[in-house]
Order: sequence, then structure tokens, then C-alpha cells
Amino acid sequence: MITEEAILGVLRKVNDPELHRDLVSLGMVKEIKVEGGSVAVTVELTTPACPLREQIESETKAAIKTLPGVGEVTVNLTASVRKPPAGREPIPGVKHILAVGSGKGGVGKSTVTVNLAVALAEAGASVGLLDSDIYGPSIPIMMGVHRQPEMVGKRMIPPVSHGVKLMSLGFLLPDDTSPVVWRGPMVGKAVSQMLMEVDWGELDYILADLPPGTGDASLTLAQAIPLSGAVIVMTPQEVAVQIATKTLNMFRTLKVPILGIIENMSYLLCPHCEQSVELFGHGGGRKASQRLEVPFLGEIPLDPELRRGGDVGRPILIEKPDSPVAAIFRQVAGNLAGRVSVEALIG
Ligand SMILES: Nc1ncnc2c1ncn2[C@@H]1O[C@H](COP(=O)(O)OP(=O)(O)OP(=O)(O)O)[C@@H](O)[C@H]1O
Ligand SMILES: [Mg+2]
Repeated sequence: MITEEAILGVLRKVNDPELHRDLVSLGMVKEIKVEGGSVAVTVELTTPACPLREQIESETKAAIKTLPGVGEVTVNLTASVRKPPAGREPIPGVKHILAVGSGKGGVGKSTVTVNLAVALAEAGASVGLLDSDIYGPSIPIMMGVHRQPEMVGKRMIPPVSHGVKLMSLGFLLPDDTSPVVWRGPMVGKAVSQMLMEVDWGELDYILADLPPGTGDASLTLAQAIPLSGAVIVMTPQEVAVQIATKTLNMFRTLKVPILGIIENMSYLLCPHCEQSVELFGHGGGRKASQRLEVPFLGEIPLDPELRRGGDVGRPILIEKPDSPVAAIFRQVAGNLAGRVSVEALIG
């Protein structure tokens, strides 16, 4: 006779490879059904973008099969993003707001943010995108959104594009407002408007594209938005590492957990010979992550399709879903989501 207790017993020895705790104590085992020698269990992952789902599935299966009398084992995987500890929900209904920052402008921060948001949504998470780059809100263009949000009563309804809800500082500004007038109070007001007066609904993640650097505007925003964590995007050059370090230190000072570093424009995959060409050097991001003791989330190659997709409002995950770059974004998004789960657990 196979009992539920016996199954829980063996699953107590299966660890979530990222959270380093067992599935039972993490509350991930949701249902156990035994019929004769057949066992079906439901395991709830902490994010639908979990990069380790196959590993968890196979280890769960193997563990249950060690029990005498067990024949067929079915593992159903579901997912639910964990809420931050009580009282730390950033805004009602939204589980995590993640900042994407960079040391300097032009490193591809907005491109990376957009594609990560689309990748997370594609994996089944509910996702928002907050464009708070005062120097040039570019996300609506990259997402192909050309309309203002609708108002229902006093609340703005974010337009949805490619499965992602979108808000931009650009929506709140008259067209001719120059960044010069974007000083502290105005930035603060606009951001709290985007957080409080926008009907985000229920979301697992909001990705916030911050202005580059550690200037006034970045600092105000990083303080004004209740963040679960921050990601730093950088290019591979040595000088980029130094600049990224400053941004990282800004988040550390604000006690925002660093989720990891992403290296963009890492290498060029030659379209003719498929060799990788390292235009700006390579590995700066990984080196920086080791030196600064923060996780490395992955490297995105230079790819003209990526720019083209941004220009026409169709991120590469939508335009070329089977391309190697799309696969890389899915992987990086999974790594990021995994890190959020870890922080939510230890936070
Ligand atoms: N991996 C890449 N391959 C090819 N082009 C890229 C890549 N990443 C970004 N780009 C292109 O580089 C330009 C700058 O990218 P993006 O606007 O995303 O950078 P940013 O860091 O947000 O810049 P800003 O500081 O102006 O906000 C864009 O034209 C974009 O399409
Ligand atoms: Mg940008």
C-alpha cells in the first residue's frame, strides 16, 4: 500500500535546485493521488518561467519510483509566483516590481527590458512594463503602442501589447516637454501616478525601465518605486564594468537586492560563417558579476534583427520566435524569475 505519507517522505529529499530547500517544506507539493501502483502528484513551481522545470520533474519522478510497489508516476507542473513577505507587496495586486538599470545610456536596456517582459508573459506570467526613462521614453515604440491609455473614472487602463501591460512616462507628458523640466518633484509625482492611478490588475511582475546612470532622476525613481530587486544591463567593455558598478552600488545603498547582471551586445554571430565575433571584447559582465559577487543572468548577442524588431514595435520574441536570440531571452528571463523566487524566499 503506497501512502501519501511515504510519498511526502521521499519528496522531502528532493530539493528545488535554486531555492536549496525541499519541495515539501517549500509547500510546492499540492496534490497526491494514488490508484493502485499509479501515483500522480502536482508540483507548483514558484514561477511559470522556471528554468529548472525538467530537472524538478525528473527528480520528483525518480524519488517516487524508489518506493516499493510504485508503477506509473505522473508529475503535473503548475506555477504560482510567490508573493513577497506580508506587507511588502509594492502595490495592491502586484507581486514584484523589478528595476532594470544601467551604468550608461545606449547599452540596450530598453531592448532587453522589452524582450524579457515578453518572454515572461509568453511563459505564462502576468506582466507589466513601466517605462520610467525620462530621457527618452522608448518602450511604447518598441512595443508598437501608439495610443494613450484610456481613462475609466480616475484610473488609467494600461494598453496591452504582445501580452504585456504597458505604462510610460511619455503618456503623461505633453509632447514638447523636454527632460530639463523633469526635476525631482515632477518625476516623483509622475511615478506615483503610474503606480497608484493605473489599473494594473493582478500581476506577477512589473519590469521598470529606469533612466541610465545614478543621476537625480534614477535615484528618485529607485527610491519612489517599491522594488523587489534590480537587474543591471551592461556591455562587455572594461569601462562599462566600472560604470555599472556605480549603479549597482546605488541599489545596494537603497537596500534593493541585486538580481543579477546581463551582458548585452556580447558578441556578433556572423551570419555567413556562424562564428562568434567579439566586437567589444567578451565576458566583462561575467567578470563583473564575480568581482561584485552578484549572479550573472546571461549574455545577449548583437543581432541586427533585434534593432529592427525594436524599430517596428515587434520584439524579436514575437517577430522571430524560433531564432537563437529569442531562445537566449527565454533563458535569461527564466534565470531572472528564478532569482526573484530566491529573493522572495529569503527576503
Ligand atoms: N543586442 C543588440 N543587438 C543589436 N542592436 C541592439 C542590441 N541591443 C540594443 N540594440 C540597439 O541599440 C540601440 C540602443 O538600444 P536601447 O534603446 O535598447 O538602449 P538603452 O540602453 O535603453 O538606451 P537609452 O539610454 O537611450 O535609453 C537601439 O537601436 C537598439 O535597437
Ligand atoms: Mg532606453
